[in-house]
Amino acid sequence: MKILFLTSAHNSLSQRLLVELSERGHDIHVCVAATGETMISAASDKLPDLIIAPMLKLAIPEEVWSRYICLIVHPGIKGDRGPSSLDWAIANGERTWGVTILQATAELDAGPIWASHEFVLEPDAPSKSSLYRGRVTDAAVRGVLEAVARIESGEFQSGAWRPEMSSSLSSDVRGCLRGPMRQADRAIDWLRDDTAAIVMKIRAADSAPGVRSTLFGRSFSLYGAHEEEFLKGPPGQVLARRDGAICIGTADGAVWVSHLKSNGGPDFQKQTWHLSLSEGGWKFSNIGLPSVDGIKLPATQVLGPLLQGVADAPLSIDAPADYRTYREIAYTEEADVGYLSFDFYNGAMNTTQCYRLRNAFLYARSRPTRVIVLLGGRDFWSNGIDLNTIEASVDPAEESWRNINAIDDLIVEILNTTCHLVIAGLRGNAGAGGAMLALAADRVFAMSGVVLNPHYRSMGLYGSEYWTYTLPRRVGRTRALELTESCQPIGAQAARQIGFIDDIFGNDASSFEAELREWVAHIAQDREFRRLLRRKHESRLDDECFKPLAAYRAEELDRMRVNFFGPNRTYHEARRRFVFKGKAPRRESSLSAPGRLDDLQAGPNGVRTVEPSVPPVGLDVRGVTQGNHHLPPHWQFAGSTALVWA
Ligand code: COA
Repeated sequence: MKILFLTSAHNSLSQRLLVELSERGHDIHVCVAATGETMISAASDKLPDLIIAPMLKLAIPEEVWSRYICLIVHPGIKGDRGPSSLDWAIANGERTWGVTILQATAELDAGPIWASHEFVLEPDAPSKSSLYRGRVTDAAVRGVLEAVARIESGEFQSGAWRPEMSSSLSSDVRGCLRGPMRQADRAIDWLRDDTAAIVMKIRAADSAPGVRSTLFGRSFSLYGAHEEEFLKGPPGQVLARRDGAICIGTADGAVWVSHLKSNGGPDFQKQTWHLSLSEGGWKFSNIGLPSVDGIKLPATQVLGPLLQGVADAPLSIDAPADYRTYREIAYTEEADVGYLSFDFYNGAMNTTQCYRLRNAFLYARSRPTRVIVLLGGRDFWSNGIDLNTIEASVDPAEESWRNINAIDDLIVEILNTTCHLVIAGLRGNAGAGGAMLALAADRVFAMSGVVLNPHYRSMGLYGSEYWTYTLPRRVGRTRALELTESCQPIGAQAARQIGFIDDIFGNDASSFEAELREWVAHIAQDREFRRLLRRKHESRLDDECFKPLAAYRAEELDRMRVNFFGPNRTYHEARRRFVFKGKAPRRESSLSAPGRLDDLQAGPNGVRTVEPSVPPVGLDVRGVTQGNHHLPPHWQFAGSTALVWA
């Protein structure tokens, strides 16, 4: 069938539907529609057999729904209506929730029901966006496929099957019309709310719009909530910090908040910070707030010097995971296998996170195990460099350069691992450099339903992450070009067919992990393991002799340097559109002005000396000197420097 998607964003759900329907031979056209006129012209242009609205924030015009069957994916159970379905479901602690496929009519969310599927919601509910990317998407796929089958089989046209009329739903349906959830409904009362209630409130608003609250007398939106089981302190007070997150006291304990968005105000002006290197590490010597309004960032980056005196509460990556707390990177061992998970918010990996993960990988590699499994995060495996942190930095071009080098420094370690077999286990979607990161592993496995976006072009980038080595090695040169040029999402099935991944397990994260663990345990005990490792080593040596990894990196980074520092600003504009969701404020000034290439060429021995305009953003400044690793090898700090946040 010829199917037209009318959607407000071609997001994870619409990409998954595109993948599933295309695999079944349907011809899909995607129209990202912001107005009724766009929908009318897309429909008259494409003349589809069916219209599907995977995620539409505005009503389909009568001119369209009266002519075509238009099916709306509604993230709610039967009878549920309104724009905040998932928010209410999480906040109200619903035990089950669902997705309903409704036909568009004059009344919003009240048309005939074509399909409806429910799923269980645990008491410790995930965030709204995690729920959306997981169970909601799975239920939506089932519902849409069922509805499409009704049309394909002719059942609907012949009248043998009729959708259920919303008006004739029995009186015991739980769903009802609910208004939009407002900030007043989400408000946290730090003195009265317990940790569970606060976590629920933040998760019901994550990833958008966040929960507005006051910290240090200023207004922020809060994201990324995690219960803390041991730390306790005065409600509403910041008690500790860890890996970019802050721990806040509640009525009965404490909660971690990983990300904040500053809501602005008169005090959020340009501030000058002084950073100096002393024996104890890098130190801020001036209190001020970076002006990063409207960008969701690690909490410690947003609060900056306001956190002076707040204790660091580090947690080693192999600390027992038997209590609730905040941990981005975790390492566990089982028999001869080390499992490394890295659950970075939204899959975005800033410079510090890349170096922290590299450290963790080096630790895993130092262990007397045979296999290392890279599990990524639960929601996303990885989405590459952190565009938000880059956008917020005073010099986005320079920060992009640091971030790409940091992720490359991680990947080169994975590629050069000869003592272990490295497995990538994708429980969630991966995009851009994050998808390429997986290819550094020797074997790549994915959960069915995972969607990959292995391309950079839509962000105006050539890409690095050694993709010019790893991608053609897996899929061949022609397909590598197709994937990177076409900028299309691919599903796990298609990825396996072309060799991008090796196999697919399980229908959900638990069954995927169970099957993966079984496979890995088996290979770790295989009598041929030594031979397998030797073959891997030899093949790496052969490849290195043919063309060194350093040459791939240098070529990629040459192109990236042009993307970052060259006169063409496509990347900077695409990034700003992406970070501000198309509503970027006017930029007062930019240090990433075109034409800086000459100033920034590498000096002798590839060492670039830069005047650091800002501490590597999001970086725990003390971590630089206390950790095992250092600033990226290609740049150096010198002495004390004045920093300006723009
Ligand atoms: N840096 C910062 N934030 C990122 C990110 C990145 N690299 N990739 C995704 N995100 C954020 C999005 O801004 C969004 O934030 P929100 O929760 O505040 O709305 C969230 O992650 C989910 O992203 P979204 O685009 O809604 O998810 P999706 O599943 O529909 O699409 C991608 C996934 C990967 C296709 C899309 O997010 C993307 O293009 N990301 C950029 C990848 C990239 O270019 N990386 C840099 C080069 S390596």
